[in-house]
Amino acid sequence: MILIRDISTLLSLAGAAAKDGRRVTEADLGISQKQAILIDKGVIQWIGASGKVPKQFAKAKIKEVSAKGLTVLPGFVECHTHLIYAGNRAAEFEMRNQGVSYQEIAAKGGGILSTMKNTRQSSVAELVRTGQQRMDHFVSQGVTTVEIKSGYALNLKDELKVLQSVQKLSGARTVATFLGAHALPPEYKTYESYLEYLGNEVLPQVKRKKLATRVDVFIEKGFFPLEASERYLRKAQELGFEVLIHADQMTLSGGADLAVKLGALSGDHLLQISEKEIKNLANSNVTCVMLPAADLYTKTNYPKAKELIEAGARVALATDFNPGTSPTQDLNLVGLLARLEMKMTLPQVISAYTVGAAHALNLHKEVGSLEVGKSADILCIDQSWDCLFYSVGERPSKMVFSRGKKIFDSLK
Ligand code: NIG
Ligand code: FE
Repeated sequence: MILIRDISTLLSLAGAAAKDGRRVTEADLGISQKQAILIDKGVIQWIGASGKVPKQFAKAKIKEVSAKGLTVLPGFVECHTHLIYAGNRAAEFEMRNQGVSYQEIAAKGGGILSTMKNTRQSSVAELVRTGQQRMDHFVSQGVTTVEIKSGYALNLKDELKVLQSVQKLSGARTVATFLGAHALPPEYKTYESYLEYLGNEVLPQVKRKKLATRVDVFIEKGFFPLEASERYLRKAQELGFEVLIHADQMTLSGGADLAVKLGALSGDHLLQISEKEIKNLANSNVTCVMLPAADLYTKTNYPKAKELIEAGARVALATDFNPGTSPTQDLNLVGLLARLEMKMTLPQVISAYTVGAAHALNLHKEVGSLEVGKSADILCIDQSWDCLFYSVGERPSKMVFSRGKKIFDSLK
């Protein structure tokens, strides 16, 4: 057993979890002082006043870890990344910054298709090597769960290669998502025929090989059309996948409403939604995943997080880390933008990056809050909680535990 003792300030997020991550306020952060957490086999057994471990554990062999002077909270859940890819799109960033649009670049074979070329040529070993570096970078920021989408290979062989690479990463817990429906590869003339191929030939293999549990699609003008995407996602559901949607990022394309209709785990981006969609999302169990770093890089507006939260929707935040629209892994930047540009309160940001994101991955019974019976995915920082998501570039020293095992320590 492991005892993390003398915790100066604990944020359990239990209240936020009890409210399903909706309308979170400071009172829901579960703030208490001088606490301890007892862990066995990666699971939290007890949380209480430090120095008062119950008698039933008295005989157990306990390894003690001091968290004196530290703030302890659930590890962050990074619920939307495109972490496995090869090459970069720095030249394209320069073009976009000089006025060429994302869609124009994509139509000329740049964008996602240029990353596709590099990714198809890359070996599993190379994808794992760069993927592991990126994974380590997330862990060093206190991330204990990382969602990773495929979608830069766009054919059976190489999409499977990408998903196999995900399985070889270590550090944080990973959740793999199949995003074959990310762009139209050169082998196909129509989105409809490509979706048929994915649904009939690729999804069954992904399922059989247990390479992903979730299926995502990029519904957008110039990308995947609504009706064919609905058929495809229903097929995915029939095969036993959970579904989610890159929805209404650049134009209002019906993705958010479809997410509600299909009972998707999340609708992601949601930049262009208006009152009707906000109401629908708020009355559903769909988690609204906001990706403000992508909005910064694409110089668009920011999603209506405040309206969504007030309407009762559950909100999550993530980096959307990818080489095109969000070439950053910086959680501080994401949280800062959520505060500055989306007017989210700090408790809402903290909950969105823990409880909200855990819901987006359907892992909320295991992670996102620190409670008895949940996984010991724990972040300890030498900083008070009100300094979180405040200073870009700052790296407080920390210890990170995944399933009770220390996976990062910069306090030593
Ligand atoms: O989430 N929107 C679609 N997919 C990514 C962009 C991927 C890329 O440009 O490489 C996103 O923003
Ligand atoms: Fe994305």
